[in-house]
Amino acid sequence: MSSPTPFRWLRRPGPHTPPGEPGAYTPSGLSYGADYNPDQWPREVWDEDVRLMREAGVTVVSLAIFSWARIQPTEDTWDFAWLDDAMDLLHAHGITVDLATATASPPPWLTTKHPEVLPQTRTGETLWPGARQQWRPTSPVFREHALRLVERMAERYGDHPALVAWHVSNELGCHNVYDFSDDAAAAFRAWLRDRYTTLDALNAAWGTAFWSQRYSAWEQVLPPRLAASHPNPTQQLDFKRFSSDALRQYLRAEAEILRRVTPDVPVTTNFMVMGETKGMDYAAWADELDFVSNDHYVLPGPQALDELSFSANLTGGIARHRPWFLMEHSTSAVNWQPVNVAKKPGELARDSLTHVAHGADAVCYFQWRQSAAGAEKYHSGMVPHAGERSRLFRDVVALGATLRDLAPVAGSTQKPARAAIVFDWDSWWTSELDSHPTDRLRYRQEALDWYSAFLALGVRADVVPSATDLATYDVVVAPVLHVVPAGLRDRLTAFVEAGGHLVTTYFSGVVDQDDHAWLGGYPGALRDLLGIRVEEFAPLLDGESATVELAGEQLEGTVWTEPVDVVDPDVEVLGWYKTGEQAGRAAVTRRTVRTGDGAGSREGSAAYVSTRFGRQGLVPVLARLLDDAGVRSELPAAVRGDVELAVRTDGTDDFWFLVNRTARPVEVPDVAGDVLAGRRLTASGTRAVTTDGTAEGTAEGTAGGALLLEPRGVAVVRRPAEPTPPR
Ligand code: GAL
Repeated sequence: MSSPTPFRWLRRPGPHTPPGEPGAYTPSGLSYGADYNPDQWPREVWDEDVRLMREAGVTVVSLAIFSWARIQPTEDTWDFAWLDDAMDLLHAHGITVDLATATASPPPWLTTKHPEVLPQTRTGETLWPGARQQWRPTSPVFREHALRLVERMAERYGDHPALVAWHVSNELGCHNVYDFSDDAAAAFRAWLRDRYTTLDALNAAWGTAFWSQRYSAWEQVLPPRLAASHPNPTQQLDFKRFSSDALRQYLRAEAEILRRVTPDVPVTTNFMVMGETKGMDYAAWADELDFVSNDHYVLPGPQALDELSFSANLTGGIARHRPWFLMEHSTSAVNWQPVNVAKKPGELARDSLTHVAHGADAVCYFQWRQSAAGAEKYHSGMVPHAGERSRLFRDVVALGATLRDLAPVAGSTQKPARAAIVFDWDSWWTSELDSHPTDRLRYRQEALDWYSAFLALGVRADVVPSATDLATYDVVVAPVLHVVPAGLRDRLTAFVEAGGHLVTTYFSGVVDQDDHAWLGGYPGALRDLLGIRVEEFAPLLDGESATVELAGEQLEGTVWTEPVDVVDPDVEVLGWYKTGEQAGRAAVTRRTVRTGDGAGSREGSAAYVSTRFGRQGLVPVLARLLDDAGVRSELPAAVRGDVELAVRTDGTDDFWFLVNRTARPVEVPDVAGDVLAGRRLTASGTRAVTTDGTAEGTAEGTAGGALLLEPRGVAVVRRPAEPTPPR
């Protein structure tokens, strides 16, 4: 057993501050830990907890997340003694604390006295106490009580030596993002007044000339509660924007108190960049925090690992490629899926290290000790019901050792890829509204399918919010970029005119920021850039498909087709419809865009994919587009698809993370560098000369040669940094 490195990297402004500036992020290693709920256990268990934490190499825990009812048992009584004890005990064992403000779930006395804090659904039903997060984001009564608690927590623990960060609430919006109560209605109106100033402007933006919806007083405006038919789409979109902003404003209210009372302690909250959790526009929230944190749980299915990588990658994009904090994931099964699958050997470490590969400087789980009671008693923890004599705890200890070996990675950032996928919350929210050409379209799934195609080809792609500066990328894929205001259209046009290669798809460019159709033909705002015109959409029924021939392959398009007219002479048709109503017409196009003369000339392109090919069908499509753009895999051909490559850099060194996506051993030929984790084979590929973390291994591993990736294994190799070539 070696003692954990005290977790001391987070002093405001945290990892988002450029190195060298006051308060900059100076990590001493990767952090390791979990949510810790000692209030669920007798005091004697805590002593065993800290012993096992040290054995596992735990350096940080998130404490008191759901402890409001324990800290404040009645409105006028406070009980901090147990928390003082826990903080002191952790500190005495070298374990630092990311302390929750404890406001995540209000105690029964509060909701009994003030039932008006309880959220209401769109059908007017109340969400009663008995689970958690039963509060309205806009409730003034809830806010008053919660902020009082925040102030008490900050005053009491601001100087505690174990404290390294504040953890605002927990997963804001997990269960309460959409509240349709009267509090929400009042706050929605205030938000709308701020956005539109006049009712005339709101009427224009919402298109209320339609169906006699014109408002003549602000009091008439409501959240989109259960209505007789399709609610106004712009009202729905604005309510989504408002609901995300309301939680963000609540986050800011807590953060303001924390920063006033404890200006040196960084503030974070745990995002949920995963799956179909779409209510919170985290790209807009990131600036509220000193460092970004994320929770991620594996979603079983054929794209489980792709989705994990996609989410981690997008979290890095939200964090502007600076290190972030994996605040929660699971050691094994969760409790909230229909069937909760245990992790297979190797998956615990591989899943965690895939997050590290995309910029996480901390690996934390929900939770430290698996609960004996309550709704999460079948959710795995670092210490399972079986106790320390278990494969799971041995895996936890082994990962702690690996993370110590990876200390040099801490503080490094995601190394920019040459390609990016653009992710846009407005397009996610709007493209999936009701009363559309099809309700089968899934925004995030389309983006994930493109990402899967990148993984299959072994080509790195960043996943970035749409506000990101795209200038450094050669190829930008913007799937279903449905909402394109004039400003975004101009940015994409400038990207292409500067020599960038843009790829977009069906149902892109169709509406502006108010969800009003751009007129004159689709794809609306992007029509000129793409050099095509579509008069009418032609979505497909379930079971229908259209064959497309592209690069000698026959591909199946589903969900959507379009009669694409090629308008611009510089458009090349890459794929043709062969069957169905569109047979003989263009399915995939690319317009070449040349600007400038002589030495300053540039050649970019704008490509359009008019149907849904899915994750496998997109592979040849993307291969062709990348080939034309000159973007190639950095991996040996033999392992592409089986191995994911993600790269971090600190400017001096690059850190190559090679993730074995298969359940069999994979040999990666010719990888030069210093092996920090994983195993090197000799040039002959037979004799293992290093093992994880041994001094011998690190020294011998400096040479080139083949790397052996264990089934589901991860290797990390340090190499001299290669400059990222400017475009
Ligand atoms: C998260 C939550 C944790 C725990 C976990 C279970 O949503 O923040 O408290 O419930 O899920 O997977």
